[in-house]
Amino acid sequence: MERILVTGGAGFIGSNFIAMALTENPECRIINLDKLTYAGNLENLTEYAENPNYTFIKGDICDGPFVEKIIEEYGIEAIINFAAESHVDRSITGPKIFIETNVTGTLTLLQAARDKKIKRFIQVSTDEVYGSLGATGKFTENTSLSPNSPYSASKAAADHLVHAFAHTWNLPANITRCSNNYGRYQFPEKMIPLMINNALNNKDLPVYGDGQQVRDWLYVYDHCTAIWAVLTKAKPGDTYNIGGCNEKSNMEVVRLILEKLDKPESLIKHVTDRPGHDRRYAIDASKIITELGWEPSVTFEQGMEKTIQWYLNNRRWLENVVSGDYQKYYDQMYANR
Ligand code: NAD
Ligand code: TYD
Repeated sequence: MERILVTGGAGFIGSNFIAMALTENPECRIINLDKLTYAGNLENLTEYAENPNYTFIKGDICDGPFVEKIIEEYGIEAIINFAAESHVDRSITGPKIFIETNVTGTLTLLQAARDKKIKRFIQVSTDEVYGSLGATGKFTENTSLSPNSPYSASKAAADHLVHAFAHTWNLPANITRCSNNYGRYQFPEKMIPLMINNALNNKDLPVYGDGQQVRDWLYVYDHCTAIWAVLTKAKPGDTYNIGGCNEKSNMEVVRLILEKLDKPESLIKHVTDRPGHDRRYAIDASKIITELGWEPSVTFEQGMEKTIQWYLNNRRWLENVVSGDYQKYYDQMYANR
């Protein structure tokens, strides 16, 4: 599959995916369709701006005729849908845009993919569609969907639509469900870059509730190679869980960041918990490992070392991202918490 429409490619995972694809698979041609919301940042792709195999197009995945025009004009063979509203806390304060982008946007892409006979559609979903786990067990691809937040409900709705298009119209589609990603270019509303940014500025690190919630951390580069494996090796119709096999409590992650940055634990501040906060996510990734031969390239410790070093070496990127509306967002989200 050589001509790929990547949606949401100016965001965190999408921009890492484009970098990986253009570097490691020079035969592919990438068209990046992105609305450039607060989370989209073309600075993430400066290195590739002049690459003849890369084209950026500003636009909305909810605009069906525009999407169809792009597919025709560039002879698109595959679509990988990263575009989304992606932050759980924002979905609690304002759920509507999550339905528009994540549900209507995915529906629009599916209709265009069906009508233009796209050869492969990949929906980048999340383990959060499965809901929350107790102290034991892991999500498999057969775990039933039980989303708890407006964000995960919108992603689950999109997954159901992908399945419906595959079932009803034989659309060659795959769904990937990954755990929490971390790495370079992540917007500092998400926990790891938020804590790094605050620690660097000697500001409090706001840990929700007791901080014993568990996430299964996946290094973003490893997520990107997993998606590439699905694109190039998976049978249409199959769903794959992608996880890093790195279960950590939030307190463990925050303590590691403070240790690496040589900052005191007194910066940790327990704040009011997120409403409906999922307690634990854990992924059983054995299907993608055994069927497609994918494996993570780093341990959590190695991935965190690289990530923290990247944020230290790219203070200007961080400063640009947190200038403007970020402070207003932060103050509203964390006031009186
Ligand atoms: P992000 O918020 O960093 O980036 C989203 C991108 O989508 C931005 O560039 C934004 O401008 C673009 N976008 C938003 N609305 C759009 C629209 N209507 N039309 C076109 N572009 C639009 O998100 P991310 O963290 O890179 O996540 C990418 C995908 O992976 C999402 O689908 C998300 O649900 C999924 N995911 C993310 C994580 C994670 O840990 N970050 C975990 C599991 C799944
Ligand atoms: P987040 O990065 O928002 O991802 P998700 O909610 O999709 O898992 O949060 C990761 C974990 O960190 C989650 O348990 C919530 C917690 N968290 C905090 O404790 N403090 C914060 O300021 C943020 C943003 C998250």
